[in-house]
Amino acid sequence: MERTIIADIGKNTGKEVLLKGWIYRTRSGKDISFVVMRDYSGIVQCVVKEGVKGFSDAQKALIESSVELKGKVKKDERAPGGYEVQVTDFNVVGFAEDFPIKAQQSPELLLDWRHLWVRSQKLNKIFRIRSTILGAIDEYFRKQGFFEIQSPSITTMACEGGSTLFEMKYFGQKAYLTQSWQLHAEALASSLEKIYCIAPSFRSEKSRTRHHLAEYWHAEAEVAWIDHEGSLKIQEGLVSHVVQTCLKKHKKELQNLGADVKMLEKVKVPFERVPYEKVMELMKKKGVKMKWGDDVTDLQLRSLSEDFKKPYFITDWPKDSKPFYMLENPKSPKTVLNADLIAPGDSGGELIGGSARETDPKKILASLKREGTDPSNYGWYMDVRRFGSVPHAGFGMGVERLTQWICNVDHIRDCIAFPRTISRVYP
Ligand code: 4AD
Ligand code: MG
Repeated sequence: MERTIIADIGKNTGKEVLLKGWIYRTRSGKDISFVVMRDYSGIVQCVVKEGVKGFSDAQKALIESSVELKGKVKKDERAPGGYEVQVTDFNVVGFAEDFPIKAQQSPELLLDWRHLWVRSQKLNKIFRIRSTILGAIDEYFRKQGFFEIQSPSITTMACEGGSTLFEMKYFGQKAYLTQSWQLHAEALASSLEKIYCIAPSFRSEKSRTRHHLAEYWHAEAEVAWIDHEGSLKIQEGLVSHVVQTCLKKHKKELQNLGADVKMLEKVKVPFERVPYEKVMELMKKKGVKMKWGDDVTDLQLRSLSEDFKKPYFITDWPKDSKPFYMLENPKSPKTVLNADLIAPGDSGGELIGGSARETDPKKILASLKREGTDPSNYGWYMDVRRFGSVPHAGFGMGVERLTQWICNVDHIRDCIAFPRTISRVYP
């Protein structure tokens, strides 16, 4: 007999099915057990009556025991999901000990037991949507003619400034875990032209926020022969495609997680482009003081959610506040041609950082010096400019940030299976 998954129970009304899964909830009377089973696709109530094969095991099996059972599917409005399975054969595959996670556990304890908590209904739904998000990113890039190519995770250069670098020993030499594939991607773009990669990036983030991980998955793209606006078009297309794909596949799960489905439905191109200077004016109207060069804080971004109902770009940031590789704006040299894509709402924030890249080696060297970085470490990067430099641009999107915003999850750590933060590297 072939296994039926719980999501397909409804198609099997009146038929005998074989289910495999874990006990999600269980309640027993003298001559009956109500066992709610879960598999990856959902939950269903199974009724085991006295006299059925395996009845005594059904009475004693605790939650999270693994089970194979056979039974007949009956429509039942009162059961969760609207169906019930009348069990004819109940077989415990692995008895579980008393499960350590009870109702109302503290977030820290749930993180200590993360290797078991990944089985929860909430994380299961988030991870299924995350899988769709990763698939949709691939699909979008490939349809647009991008090549997927990888770059090293071990590097000798900072891309996003020295303060968040994880240092490591590398055969007697100093090396770092990568913050971004970008510098290597700029070299590869002179070969493949349109490239992307989804890989972990590492940031030794000392701040504890709801949006920061020490290890996160980074979807990055780099394109030769493209200008800043061309890059923004790719970014807005990418985010719209991912959101609409999630809605198509997961509307029920999204609603269940408390996502703002109505807002997500409006996430279609184009996204507004808002210069940094305009953001300063908006903040002034809200009575918030912002100096030229200040970052826009999480709190300020949240207050901007009143003004923007779907993701928007903050463009043209002050040059001195941004990394060395960003292209100076020819029309306003105190700014760079860059953008952060910001998602509205409490679970939103910065989803993407991107820019056109500086091609003038003198300007790159001057910016490195301004940052206090030793340019001699950037030899090969400068070579890329010396041998047939072309206009190019790229961006990086945080996969967990995007998942957090789409699913409306309070803390980013629930958007990755085993989160790494300043206070956690276990399990
Ligand atoms: O804005 P960032 O630092 O930009 C870069 O790394 C560029 N080199 C990307 C590029 O142009 N190829 O990071 C890009 C995105 C952010 O917008 C955010 O979504 C995510 O990466 N991100 C983080 N996500 C989780 N935890 C952290 N600590 C993150 N830091 C950045
Ligand atoms: Mg950024």
